Amino acid sequence: MSIVVAIDGPSGSGKSSVSRRVAQRLGLAYLDTGAMYRAATWWAVHEGVDLADTGAVAALVRDMVLVMVVDPRGPQVWVGGIDVTAAIRETSVSTAVSAVATNLDVRAELARRQRAEIAFQCEPGSWADGRGIVAEGRDITTVIAPDADVRLLLTASEEARLARRAREVHGSDDAAAVEATRDQVVRRDADDSAVAQFLTAADGVVTVDSSALDLDQTVDAVLGVVERTL
Ligand code: C5P
Repeated sequence: MSIVVAIDGPSGSGKSSVSRRVAQRLGLAYLDTGAMYRAATWWAVHEGVDLADTGAVAALVRDMVLVMVVDPRGPQVWVGGIDVTAAIRETSVSTAVSAVATNLDVRAELARRQRAEIAFQCEPGSWADGRGIVAEGRDITTVIAPDADVRLLLTASEEARLARRAREVHGSDDAAAVEATRDQVVRRDADDSAVAQFLTAADGVVTVDSSALDLDQTVDAVLGVVERTL
């Protein structure tokens, strides 16, 4: 039997760390769909395409050779044969990614690839040998895998999300670091929410609020939901 776990949430909600650990604990593959939008953004900038030229960006993404490792212990990303695992996390990409993610033709292409990967990991012979996958992003519970076995929205207060992202990016959550992170969290979520519903849970989606939980506690809360749902 294969299991698909869909997890959505805003930036700084801890989605990626939590999803990776949940996938490891359950022996499932892991798909970071945000990394796909980040890779598309990095590639468009690398190729000198104006991000405002929606037709050119969409054409580039349709031909993009993107390879992602679905092993939750070490997700790596290559685009056009270049290892961009670290580069796609840089602030320049975080700042620009919403412009690419709100391009509906880009979304259609990446959605097609995401659905194919989810289906593939439910087949024998795949990395997870058919056990299934944890897929995380902004529209997984609603658009990509609305029929997933488990559908979760991972949220946290704006304050907690800003502090988390500030520690990740600046190594501190003092006032200056939090302010420097605000654009990457608050503005990005506002832009992204124009094309995906992840600020509130859709029908049938279980909310886990991690504001007062550490990583282990959040992982346990998510695993609890998985156990109760299956
Ligand atoms: O999760 P992460 O912060 O890496 O996502 C990067 C960006 O990718 C988001 O800000 C959003 O613009 C886009 N994204 C999306 N749909 C998804 C996953 C990510 O639009 N399913």
